[in-house]
Parts: sequence; structure tokens; C-alpha cells
Amino acid sequence: MCGIVGYIGKKRAVPILLEGMRKLEYRGYDSAGIAVRGADGNIAVVKACGKLANLEARVEQGAPLEGGCGVGHTRWATHGEPTEANAHPHRSMRGAVTVVHNGILENYREMREELRAKGYTFLSDTDTEVAADFLEDLLLQGLSPLRAISRFMHTARGSYALAILFEGHGTIFLARKDSPLVVGKGEGEMFIASDVPAFLSRTKEFYCMGNMQMAEVSAEGAAFYDAEGVPASCERILETGDGAAAEKEGFEHFMIKEIGEEPRAVENTLHAYLKDGKPDFSEIGLTGEFLRADEVVAVACGSAYHAAVVFQYVAEKLARVPVRTELASEFRYRDPILKKNTLVVAVSQSGETADTLAALREAKARGAKTVAVVNVRGSSAAREADFPLYTCAGPEIAVATTKAYGAQLAAGYLLALGMAHAWGRLSDSELSRYTEELLALPAKMESVLSRAEEVRTFAKAHASVRDVFMIGRGIDYAVCLEGALKLKEVAYVHTEAYAAGELKHGAISLIENGVLVVGVLTQSGVAAKTRSNLEETKARGGKAVTVSFAEEGEEGGFLLPPVEELFAASLSVLPLQLFAYYVGVERGLDTDKPRNLAKSVTVE
Ligand code: G6P
Repeated sequence: MCGIVGYIGKKRAVPILLEGMRKLEYRGYDSAGIAVRGADGNIAVVKACGKLANLEARVEQGAPLEGGCGVGHTRWATHGEPTEANAHPHRSMRGAVTVVHNGILENYREMREELRAKGYTFLSDTDTEVAADFLEDLLLQGLSPLRAISRFMHTARGSYALAILFEGHGTIFLARKDSPLVVGKGEGEMFIASDVPAFLSRTKEFYCMGNMQMAEVSAEGAAFYDAEGVPASCERILETGDGAAAEKEGFEHFMIKEIGEEPRAVENTLHAYLKDGKPDFSEIGLTGEFLRADEVVAVACGSAYHAAVVFQYVAEKLARVPVRTELASEFRYRDPILKKNTLVVAVSQSGETADTLAALREAKARGAKTVAVVNVRGSSAAREADFPLYTCAGPEIAVATTKAYGAQLAAGYLLALGMAHAWGRLSDSELSRYTEELLALPAKMESVLSRAEEVRTFAKAHASVRDVFMIGRGIDYAVCLEGALKLKEVAYVHTEAYAAGELKHGAISLIENGVLVVGVLTQSGVAAKTRSNLEETKARGGKAVTVSFAEEGEEGGFLLPPVEELFAASLSVLPLQLFAYYVGVERGLDTDKPRNLAKSVTVE
């Protein structure tokens, strides 16, 4: 969702804020704004609709903003259209409080009515403006900023990460509930961000604010408090990355750069948890006792959900334990039944997705042990789960995930093998054959990617396609779910993933001349069946194309190198990711920042 940045120190804040916002723009990009406190203590606000470039142009044209303290925001609209009036920062009616906010205040209407009754008027449709006025009203009643924020935290429902400038105070105040916020420490300067990559090039030392915490940040440091205003400790992390992964490095888009990084992401994830040829999660405390769960429930959203579906197929096959995959947004509200010994696996790149976090908390509250398969270190899911199982994809910037999805698949294979091993379902020789197959995956993925040109040519020829079906069975179906989502996300093409056997039960009526049908055929037990379904679509005017091993391929289809079938998703998804990217590019779209999307969905 929205991206928040802040800076306080001796340097000019504006270029630092804009630099951080550029790195966080993947969190939202329908409007942007900054607020800077000048040497005279006055706070100037500049906002612009659309992408960050518009704000940068406006900042350049306007009077120079010189101060060394400010906050910035890239918006993904929740309340109110993406207009300039609705863009952040928002100021309170009398200008005493300036706020940037990520999240949703669920009871803002009630809060607004109470403020209206006190004479407040509002310039925007946002919930955030209400927060600014609420705080101002308390200041006028004589409360200190911290006490006012504390009162806000006890009044507001929903989620928020807030960075706040108070008139007459030289510091930046923060509050966090269910939306991430980190504070980076420099030499005589401090950085604030929704996410570490914003300032990774400037510091390695970050404090991850805990839930229901407040902070006051000066150039020298940050003081953290609980919601009552009692001093609190805050988890400190030292990042090892150099921030280079957050740069395009000559690639036209992050998406294609990150697809290229997928083999490395898989390799690093495998090496993190393979010890002496066996999956080993003892480092995170996930020992045999927990892996021998009677049942596993995987919860996730979006692509992470699709990775979980692959995990389900692989884990059931290898460990012979029932695995259920559920959309986190459904799981959290449906009073789920969990057995005593159920292991709940939450899968999330960001570790901040609101629904996935809520599902994780629900599972914990019901007594289940929880694993978080998560890419961002120190994220909420990583901290709250019993066992944080890290994918090692590095920072992912393109909104549509590719390499993090690939790494999630790898983590799923490891977990499945770990469960099978813990249950004694695999002989030593079977286990080592599987791990060898896993370790061979990155090179095979490279070989698939080296043929990107084939996909580009195909994409060029089909860039104007209107409707696409992707069909497969088992793991192939799970890959179709992801391939279809990619094409929707970055190329805006209507695409449906169908379990091949289901097509006849309705959707085949949509097949006509010009519809492209992609068959994924890597599972030998069912490939011939999907092949027949593909023929049925051809007979009705569909244009069929395949992603398969040599024996099942359609002429002109994409051929994959041989691989253990259980791990085929890691290869078959690549041409689909490339296809989505190249169609998007052909259509002249910004594949890194598709319309209406955000990378980190911190509201439900
Ligand atoms: C958003 C992103 C998707 C992602 C999903 C889940 O919708 O655009 O790419 O798959 O959230 O995110 P997570 O961080 O939990 O994996």
C-alpha cells in the first residue's frame, strides 16, 4: 500500500525524501506529496497527482524547500479518488499537525462527525485528514504530542503507520498499528520508511517498530514508547544488502531484471535450509516434532497463494499428509477448524499483507504452530510466526512478483521434503535424489531463461490477444493460476486459469476464434488428458500453445529441459512470466507499476 518516508538531520531533506520515495513507489503511485519543516519552523507541503515524477517536477518548479526535516508519501487510494486534495500529507484545519498515513481508519466517519461538531471542516475525502484534526484538537486541549497520539491509538480502529510533524516541535512522531514502519539510524541523521529498501543505500541499521508503538525521532536517535507512552524497546536489525538490488542496473524494467534473478533466488533459498543433503530447519526451531503435523493448512494471498497451491500438491505427494490451501482473506473470517496438531504455513513475500497476517494471528489464537514463509526480514509475519522460514529472493521491486514467487516454490519443496523426512516417508536414497534434483534447478531455470527471445517473439505476435485460457492439471494447474495472474496484472489481458478437466463444465462456451489457450503439460500422469482438452478447444477455434517437455509439446510450443516432475513448476512458470512481461511491454504499459495495484497490500 502507501509508502511513507521521513528524514531528519543536517542535510536538505527534499532530495533524500524523493530518493526514498522512488524506492518505495512500488507501494502506491496514484499521487505523492512531501512536507518539509523550514529553518523558521514553518511546514511547507507540496503534492501532485499521478506518479512521483509529477511531484518531482512540481518541487523543482516551486520555491526551494531548504529544511532538514520532512516526511513524504506515495499513495494507493483507499478513501477518496486519487486527486491532489486527497494526496498526503494532510494538515489539520489550523495547521498545527501534518500527517502521512498508510492504512485505513475504520471508524473515521464517527471521528469526523465528532470533529465536525467541534467546528472542524474538511478539505479531502480521506480518513487521514481526520487523524490530523483529531490530534490538533487534543493539542488544543493541552495534551503533549505523545499523549495526543496515545489517545488517538486508543480511539482509532483499523490500521495505520503514521509519520507526524507537530508545529512547534522539531522532531518527527510516529505511530504504528498493523502497518509496517522502520526507523533507520545514520550519523547525526535518522530515516523513516515503510520498508527497509527506501534507505538501504544510506544506512544498514534499522529499528522495526512493534505493533501499537509510538516513537519520537530526532537527528540524534529515536525513542520508542508503547501505546500508553511508557518507554519501550524496539527490535534492531542490521541489513547486509547494499541496496543494489533496488536499482534497475540498466534493465528496462525491474520485472525483467527480477525474472533474471529467479534462479539465484531459488539457489539461495535452497542453500539456506539444505544441510548435508537434507532439509534442516533447526536454525529456526522447526524440528521433526513440528514437521510431523497431522495436517497442514497453508494461508496466503495473490501469487503467494499460488505458490502455496504448488506446495500442497508436492507436500501431499511426498509426505502423505493432508494439506489444505486457503485464501487468507477467507480463512480469517470463516471460523476455521484446526486440529490439535495442525501446522499453519503463512506464505508472504512482504510479511505485511493484512489478510495473511490476520490469518496467521487467527491460527495462533487457535493454538496452532505457525510457519511464515517470508521474504522480508524483520517483517510482521516473520516476527509473529513461531518459525520464520525465509525465502532469499532479496528485495523485489516490481509490483508483480516473480523471483519471490520462485523462491516461495523452493521453500515449499524444502518444507515438503522436511515433512516427508520427519514422517519417515522417504528412504535416504530417495531424499538425496530429490535434493540433487532441487540443487540442479537453478541451472535448468537459467537454461529456460536463456531462451527468452522465443517467448518475446511469440508475445509480439500475440500482443493484441483479447482472451487467454491457461489450462493444466495438478501442479500444472497451480502454475496456470500464477501465469494467468501475471498476464492480468502487467498486460491487462483477460486471462483465466482453468483446471483442464473443468473447462467442459461451462467455460468452454467462451472458446471461439482468436482465443489463445495455453496448455501446461509437465505432469506425465495427466498430460495426455490435458492434451485432449487442448484439442477440444482447437476444434472450437481456439489457438493452442503448450509449455511442456519434448514428448507432449505442440508444434511451436515452449519445450522445457527434463526435471523431476514435482519441481516442474519452477521451470514452467518462467515462460508464462516472460510472456506476461513481453505482452505488457508490447502494449506500451509500465509493467513495474501496473494500474490499480500495489505490492504490499496492508489493508484488507
Ligand atoms: C499483492 C501483490 C502480489 C502479491 C500479493 C501477496 O497483491 O501485488 O504480487 O502476491 O500482494 O503479497 P505478499 O507480500 O503477502 O506475498
